[in-house]
Amino acid sequence: PRHVFRAEDWEEKEIHALLDEAENIAQIPRQTPLFQRLYAVNLFYEPSTRTKLSFEAAERNLGLEILPFATDSSSVQKGESLYDTVKTLESIGADVVVIRHSQEKFFDDLRTGINIPIINGGDGCGNHPTQSLLDLMTIRQEFGSFQNINVVIAGDISHSRVARSNISLLRKLGANVTVSGPEKWIPDEYRKMYQPMDEAIPMADVMMMLRIQHERHHASNQNVYSFHSSYGLTTDRESRMKKSSIIMHPGPVNRGVEIADELVECKRSRIFKQMQNGVFARMSLLKHVLRQS
Ligand code: CP
Repeated sequence: PRHVFRAEDWEEKEIHALLDEAENIAQIPRQTPLFQRLYAVNLFYEPSTRTKLSFEAAERNLGLEILPFATDSSSVQKGESLYDTVKTLESIGADVVVIRHSQEKFFDDLRTGINIPIINGGDGCGNHPTQSLLDLMTIRQEFGSFQNINVVIAGDISHSRVARSNISLLRKLGANVTVSGPEKWIPDEYRKMYQPMDEAIPMADVMMMLRIQHERHHASNQNVYSFHSSYGLTTDRESRMKKSSIIMHPGPVNRGVEIADELVECKRSRIFKQMQNGVFARMSLLKHVLRQS
């Protein structure tokens, strides 16, 4: 077999032959079958189950090839910047890049100079647009519209990119948004929208529960049992919800903390429906951005 171990093992003739063939390939128009594949790269610098795997499912369903990227085995470990990483992927032939990163607004460094679409898969406490899209899909399936639908988003609002994206889009679409949970986790900008859980529960059409984002807290949190009884969706609170109202949660769920274990899969719960919709919403978005690029 023709192993490739050392550059110096190549004969001069062989080097020119390889370079000539590379030049020939470079001249092939992108429309020919060799280059007709579209490539997606998913850069997840933070853990993910739903977003990463549903993007992969969405990409495969659309016929995209996935170039695998693992942050711990990439040149990110050698100090390569996010911009240079994405520019490299563009040069290699990526057609779309999905990025999750702990740095809020990581995309500000990528606004210029990159010529392929970038999709934010979650930036720190900032934004989670594709989660919002699948949440909107789930709510619209249920109520047919957003006008005057009462959505209560409850829990760790201050650290939640899901809350931030959903509050913005739901208000834009005409829904009434209330935030609830520990008052210390309600950012000033949302303070006017605050109601205590027991007041919010009976008027909610949608109870959207959020996980405590322990990884983004500096101090240790209160006892999870007292959190559940004070701020969680207990079975008692669920019994006071409107008959037609639904429960949502972006996941991952901490059963028995922000939501009672038995409510995760109850009749009102749309939690697994949200995950199913995630693949469809991401397929729709991928088609949209690839059409425009
Ligand atoms: N909802 C959500 O973003 O889940 P993952 O962190 O598992 O992707």
